[in-house]
Amino acid sequence: FSSFLTDSFNRQHDYLRISITERCNLRCTYCMPEEGVPLSPPSHLLTTPEIVYLSELFVTQGVTKIRLTGGEPTIRKDILPLMQQIGSLRSKGLRELCLTTNGIALFRKLDAMAEAGLTGVNLSLDTLDPFQFQIMTRRKGFEAVTRSVDRILEMNRLGASIKLKINCVVMRGINEREILPFVELGRDKDIEVRFIEYMPFDGNKWSKAKMLSYGEMLTLIQAKYPALEKVQDHMHDTSKTFRVPGFRGRIGFITSMTHNFCGTCNRLRITSDGNLKVCLFGNAEVSLRDLLRKANGGRPIEDQEAMEALRQVEMDRRQVLSNREVILGYGERERGLLDVIG
Ligand code: GTP
Ligand code: 5AD
Ligand code: SF4
Repeated sequence: FSSFLTDSFNRQHDYLRISITERCNLRCTYCMPEEGVPLSPPSHLLTTPEIVYLSELFVTQGVTKIRLTGGEPTIRKDILPLMQQIGSLRSKGLRELCLTTNGIALFRKLDAMAEAGLTGVNLSLDTLDPFQFQIMTRRKGFEAVTRSVDRILEMNRLGASIKLKINCVVMRGINEREILPFVELGRDKDIEVRFIEYMPFDGNKWSKAKMLSYGEMLTLIQAKYPALEKVQDHMHDTSKTFRVPGFRGRIGFITSMTHNFCGTCNRLRITSDGNLKVCLFGNAEVSLRDLLRKANGGRPIEDQEAMEALRQVEMDRRQVLSNREVILGYGERERGLLDVIG
């Protein structure tokens, strides 16, 4: 494992999350304002060859899991060729290729994605009611999402193995009454439903009163399912996992607000404009895009040929390395989210 991905606590950062677009086709109230987020000029965004180049660089350094995120990753036009190219890094050590998506534009792409080596889908779905869906996401599309869910389950029955998790952000007074129906989904479906504590982001009108804590959610679920039992989590999991005996699925809780998991976090992130950072909430970022383009004579890498040429040049990795302490600094992460609640 390269020292470049190991920090001074000996944590090995073998999980890379790459945001491939800032855009989204929904407007979930807890995430974005109605008008959307400000978009970067296209020339600031990583090109597909740049994303592939960086993926390969990280995989050869020891990254074994890549997750594509957004915005909404499925609306990037070339997501399929992109996934095919990243998928081919299996031969270099990549073991998992995952997607976090709202599922709206997923259905038609699923077969090609599976072919490219997709191993996991985390699907955002906060309600099982089409009307409530429209309120929470400010858009229509509930049926498109459930079609994607059903298709993944069907593909798995036919021999695929795409690990399916549903991410459900729970907000008091909005969708809390759906917690039990979501647990019930796991009775005969092999899905992990993860209840997420509502987190503050710039401008999402977060309030402590709207946040339902892990403790509250657990108490509510245990009242109906007293036999609920804990499942051993993997060291780097963001969630605490449980099962109801006899159910095929599982449930989990992402407790960013009340029990942060910063100490065992192994994630690296690349933003859609090419910045490397360790923490969702961290500000220390290093522009990999600028490093890449400098090595390419100041130009974005736009085709496979230029990428091959760049491989000869060798990006100045030392500059990435010398920034390691900045990008793998642990201060901001360890401070955790509790500061935000006060
Ligand atoms: P896997 O563990 O690979 O299944 O995925 P994940 O839980 O890391 O990622 P996903 O994209 O499904 O995100 C689920 C939730 O975790 C979201 O609400 C994220 O905002 C939150 N999350 C992801 N990474 C971090 C992190 O580093 N810190 C905090 N506080 N929350 C995170
Ligand atoms: N609080 C908690 N989770 C959030 N997500 C987006 N915004 C928030 C928030 N304010 C979740 C989405 C998606 C995941 C990537 O992040 O539900 O599944
Ligand atoms: Fe945000 Fe995801 Fe909802 Fe889009 S689908 S608005 S990125 S939470």
